[in-house]
Amino acid sequence: MNYKQALEHKIFKIISKSAKEIDVDCYVIGGFVRDFILDRGKHKDIDIVAIGSGIKLAKQVAKNLPNNPKVQVFKTYGTAMLRFEDIEIEFVGARKESYNEDSRNPIVENGTLEDDQNRRDFTINALALDLSEEKFGALLDPFNGIEDLQNKTIITPLNPDVTYSDDPLRMLRAIRFATQLNFQIEDNSLKAITKNSDRIKIITKERIVTELNKILESSKPSIGFLLLEKTGLLKLIIPELTNLKGVEEVEGQKHKDNFYHTLEVVDNISKHTDNLWLRWAALLHDIGKAPTKKFSKKVGWTFHGHEFEGSKMVYHLFKRLKMPLNDKMKFVQKMVFMSSRPIVLAQDIVTDSAVRRLVFDAGDYVDDLMTLCEADITTKNPNKFKKYHNNFKIVREKIVEVEARDHVRNFQPPVSGEEIMKTFNLKPSREIGIIKEKIKEAILEGDIPNEHEAAFQLMLKEGEKLGLTVSS
Ligand code: CTP
Repeated sequence: MNYKQALEHKIFKIISKSAKEIDVDCYVIGGFVRDFILDRGKHKDIDIVAIGSGIKLAKQVAKNLPNNPKVQVFKTYGTAMLRFEDIEIEFVGARKESYNEDSRNPIVENGTLEDDQNRRDFTINALALDLSEEKFGALLDPFNGIEDLQNKTIITPLNPDVTYSDDPLRMLRAIRFATQLNFQIEDNSLKAITKNSDRIKIITKERIVTELNKILESSKPSIGFLLLEKTGLLKLIIPELTNLKGVEEVEGQKHKDNFYHTLEVVDNISKHTDNLWLRWAALLHDIGKAPTKKFSKKVGWTFHGHEFEGSKMVYHLFKRLKMPLNDKMKFVQKMVFMSSRPIVLAQDIVTDSAVRRLVFDAGDYVDDLMTLCEADITTKNPNKFKKYHNNFKIVREKIVEVEARDHVRNFQPPVSGEEIMKTFNLKPSREIGIIKEKIKEAILEGDIPNEHEAAFQLMLKEGEKLGLTVSS
């Protein structure tokens, strides 16, 4: 492979020239090199390691760039960052590091390139390309990172126990890379992650969620969640999911393993949507099943009210993981809360009124809800699989049909409270609510069309029942 091709962007020549001017050697390292070799498209962040001061090099590069960009310096870490066009370039001096027991922050000493490569997380992230004029584009791969890329292996340069306990975030990074790249984590690494899993507690929730999101955004997120489970990390991060594990049997009756079912649903939905929050909804759609599980002789296993319970748990989970408690969370809650609605509907004959109610309750999210419910079909019985998918097809068609006719997606009552008050000469009162509810119900049931005249007539009728008189 000709690695010079990776360095075609003009920025690399500028970095090379700047390094020569201040007499330091420097290399491009990490994700940029890895992703070039894997042909994963342009990597937007470039990491430069200088054998000397990274901050000094960054300042020299800024001087040589046409627009003299601002250099952001992080003194404590001895790093500096600048932006050029749409690229973020981070400069760091080669380091030898050791870590505190209870913090990710390293104690830093100057080091050689090899020291620096040693302290990186994985061999595939320790590949470096020389930026000196003489050896421009030469590859430095002391740990056979190229071979590991070819063998699709995640392996640490040092003893994995050292690498992971130095920086426990790497346990999640290993699993995230395994998921994104469809790589295997080498056995000793996997053992070390399991052994050190407890140390995840020193990592901030925000960083954990960043990795979880990247796993969820991959094409097959189950790879990551299975590894998280296997290593004991999932129990520490999202116990709501590990609580779904297992199949219980009472009097010959079993329920399905809701953990593995959930992962299937997440993989299914990932084929149909890139919406991260819809993927979160798929991941959490059954979490209410653990606390609501019951067995009775009469009906066997039930999970009554698991959707409501689950939607409440979503809030606590988001709060605990310091995720946004905003409209994204509300969306996930709504999806979890409504996750059984289309299923119940599709098991029966699909009536217009049931579809109208679904559209009314789900509003703008009705399509997302359908996507979730289709992904939820994991039956291994081909006849049932076909039947459910067919029914959902009918539901989707009916949604379009009913919506075109009745416009209930963002329902606005065709007769307003004000009109009711004016008609019966009323002050704000309970009767207005009763009449409005009757009109809404009649429209959803299909007893009257969603039109003003029909609603007005019904209002007069209901007013009369309540003993109201029309004002003259
Ligand atoms: N690195 C590390 N340990 C960490 C984080 C990063 O050793 N906990 C090193 C790796 O060499 C990595 C480089 O720093 O390649 C840059 O890190 P980062 O930008 O976070 O990741 P990338 O590898 O670039 O990959 P991605 O952009 O997909 O996160």
